[in-house]
Amino acid sequence: MIKLQVFFLVIILSTEICHSIIPIERSAQSSILADKKLFFFGGMSSQLLSSFNQILYLDVSKPFNTTNPPFEILNVSIPFRSSYATALFSPLKNEVYLFGGFMRNELNDDNMFGNHISVLISFNLENNGWNFTFTKTNGIAPENRRLINGVINNKTGKFYIFGGVNDTFTGATTNSIAFNDMNIFDTISLTWSKGSAEGSPLPLIGYTATLLSNGIIVFIGGEERPYNYNVSLNQLALYDTKVDQWSSMRAQGITLENRSYHSAVLTSDERIIVFGGDNFLNQYQLAVLNTKVVPYEWSVPTPAPPLPLTTYSHSATLVGNYMFINFGKVDYVDSNHEQLPYFYILDIRNFTWVAQYEPEQLSQLPNSTNTVNTSTTNSPGLSVETPSDNDKKIGIIIGAVGLSVVTVAGLLIGYKYYKKQRVHRYAKQAKQCVSYN
Ligand SMILES: *[C@@H]1O[C@H](CO)[C@@H](O)[C@H](O)[C@H]1NC(C)=O
Ligand SMILES: *[C@@H]1O[C@H](CO)[C@@H](O)[C@H](O)[C@H]1NC(C)=O
Ligand SMILES: *[C@@H]1O[C@H](CO)[C@@H](O)[C@H](O)[C@H]1NC(C)=O
Ligand SMILES: *[C@@H]1O[C@H](CO)[C@@H](O)[C@H](O)[C@H]1NC(C)=O
Ligand SMILES: *[C@@H]1O[C@H](CO)[C@@H](O)[C@H](O)[C@H]1NC(C)=O
Ligand SMILES: *[C@@H]1O[C@H](CO)[C@@H](O)[C@H](O)[C@H]1NC(C)=O
Ligand SMILES: *[C@@H]1O[C@H](CO)[C@@H](O)[C@H](O)[C@H]1NC(C)=O
Ligand SMILES: *[C@@H]1O[C@H](CO)[C@@H](O)[C@H](O)[C@H]1NC(C)=O
Ligand SMILES: *[C@@H]1O[C@H](CO)[C@@H](O)[C@H](O)[C@H]1NC(C)=O
Ligand SMILES: *[C@@H]1O[C@H](CO)[C@@H](O)[C@H](O)[C@H]1NC(C)=O
Repeated sequence: MIKLQVFFLVIILSTEICHSIIPIERSAQSSILADKKLFFFGGMSSQLLSSFNQILYLDVSKPFNTTNPPFEILNVSIPFRSSYATALFSPLKNEVYLFGGFMRNELNDDNMFGNHISVLISFNLENNGWNFTFTKTNGIAPENRRLINGVINNKTGKFYIFGGVNDTFTGATTNSIAFNDMNIFDTISLTWSKGSAEGSPLPLIGYTATLLSNGIIVFIGGEERPYNYNVSLNQLALYDTKVDQWSSMRAQGITLENRSYHSAVLTSDERIIVFGGDNFLNQYQLAVLNTKVVPYEWSVPTPAPPLPLTTYSHSATLVGNYMFINFGKVDYVDSNHEQLPYFYILDIRNFTWVAQYEPEQLSQLPNSTNTVNTSTTNSPGLSVETPSDNDKKIGIIIGAVGLSVVTVAGLLIGYKYYKKQRVHRYAKQAKQCVSYN
């Protein structure tokens, strides 16, 4: 009887307020735009010292204020805890491909598939189901790696992933093996192949890759020697996907600071906008690479917009004329900043930071093909949420039926503990999702 009442109460509360959440800080997640939704796969929390299996999303067809963005959690999670992977969306198949990165079962265990095995999994946006495509691929799959940035040709359905690193942590020693192979996956025939090795860059990690409409992939920044920022942004590696050929180009214009773990988006007029990054310096200018001139030309927007705290290991996605910059780390400021889920929107027409997001060009964003049901989360799936306004109502979402009173009570006690720890703005009990306030 008590069990039923508690359960009923829980259902009422969750249906009443379970709309949006304020996620825990994270970095090294992968983001893609599909179905008018901006999805964030996995990531790693430096507070929780853990990777996530969570998929967050934002409905970008609705306006919102960036101080309070309406994040939601998909009711399906990644089959493992994922970070430093690369995600690619194929509109042809309405599927997201997730490749590489750390793949953990639990917090600090080894990669669950071992370091040798590459795992490519696909997520179908129509049925919200994961598919372990790697068991069925043809060709020779690449070894597992991270700190990669893949690109997909949405007309041919082929994606391209260069380099990356396999690091193994043994006690205090990190053993890193970096790669410089171009791996191509055909999402139609499910076949892996290797691109040309001739003229390829040295092993490279932490770079960005951007596919231009002429089929050329532009590689920007990163590290040729793992964990040294020794690649100049003015020296660009290019790979022509049409003829499988490498070349390099010395970009003209201003000289930029070397950086890794930055982000890049391509505008409709073929400019690449680069934000953030790391090399233990503080702030980076926003930079724009014009690829309509040869050699390509770097510039800094004028007047230079005031920079917010520059993050690295964030994700950036272009939504119409807005560059969304999400999550990431800022390790040179006091630790309070590390807890923020950074959220910046740049209007790329005039390089201004936007506080109130107004969707535009909605006709150009494809309609949703599925309805995402956010009223539950799955395993471990216990999430404590508070509404993101100052409303004191509590919603406890339980993604499984038949939980015992003990479990529910445990959650409530957990919530009380969480409230006591509010100054820390996260709860150790509820690793999946916690609202601030
Ligand atoms: C998984 O992918 C394979 C290959 O594309 C396909 O044949 C199969 O139907 C998929 N399974 C699901 C459940 O989507
Ligand atoms: C990754 O590193 C580990 C340990 O050094 C090694 O055993 C493994 O073979 C490496 N994997 C690849 C793909 O290089
Ligand atoms: C395919 O990619 C091009 C270039 O990035 C983009 O303009 C177009 O909107 C994409 N098409 C779909 C259906 O996503
Ligand atoms: C970066 O470091 C690697 C390893 O020491 C070296 O081989 C490479 O030439 C360096 N790259 C540049 C551009 O200096
Ligand atoms: C940036 O990279 C270039 C090329 O390797 C190197 O010569 C230069 O010293 C690097 N700059 C910094 C500040 O590390
Ligand atoms: C930037 O451009 C957008 C679109 O043209 C406009 O709505 C906005 O007011 C501009 N912002 C500033 C600060 O001028
Ligand atoms: C966004 O919300 C903050 C805090 O609630 C508020 O101070 C600010 O005025 C809002 N901005 C806009 C553009 O609505
Ligand atoms: C997308 O949805 C809107 C509003 O529901 C509708 O008016 C429009 O026709 C739809 N477009 C397509 C291509 O289905
Ligand atoms: C969402 O889930 C609830 C509970 O499982 C179900 O009753 C409802 O029909 C679902 N909504 C959609 C749109 O599938
Ligand atoms: C998630 O929501 C979708 C859409 O309503 C539904 O079809 C699916 O069964 C749900 N999955 C889980 C694991 O609850």
